[in-house]
Amino acid sequence: LYELAWILPSIAIPTAMLVAVVIAAFGMGIHLPGIAGTVDPAQLRETPPFDNPGLSQIAPNHYQLTIVASAWQFQPNEVRIPAGAQVDIVATSRDVIHGFEIPGTNVNLMVIPGRIARTTVTFHQPGTYQFMCHEYCGVGHHLMWGRIIVE
Ligand code: CUA
Repeated sequence: LYELAWILPSIAIPTAMLVAVVIAAFGMGIHLPGIAGTVDPAQLRETPPFDNPGLSQIAPNHYQLTIVASAWQFQPNEVRIPAGAQVDIVATSRDVIHGFEIPGTNVNLMVIPGRIARTTVTFHQPGTYQFMCHEYCGVGHHLMWGRIIVE
């Protein structure tokens, strides 16, 4: 009976913390960095900008890169971007939770169905930057990568 006094809190405390995190992340929707807005994952083909993934110029030296993640690919999976341009990344998922990371940059997003993730990056150095899914999303997880060619 004495052990029960230790075992119960050791279960209850992590459970309570997990519940608190889930409520904070999904209930209030304000504690996930980069999450800005919602979108119906079933309507992506009809919903701008996700109906037309890829790079579009929105001002001189300023682009938007729209990414749609799905099991197990990114659209697009290869992009050419001018060096020194501001790139606003807007991403969502068609199905399950994915990630979008560009190592060596500040870009590190959770890509959640129903949510719009945003961040901004500028590639100062020309070169090839690989991006990948960094949230385990099933048997094809390792296939989810692509590249940005900065020129
Ligand atoms: Cu998508 Cu891992």
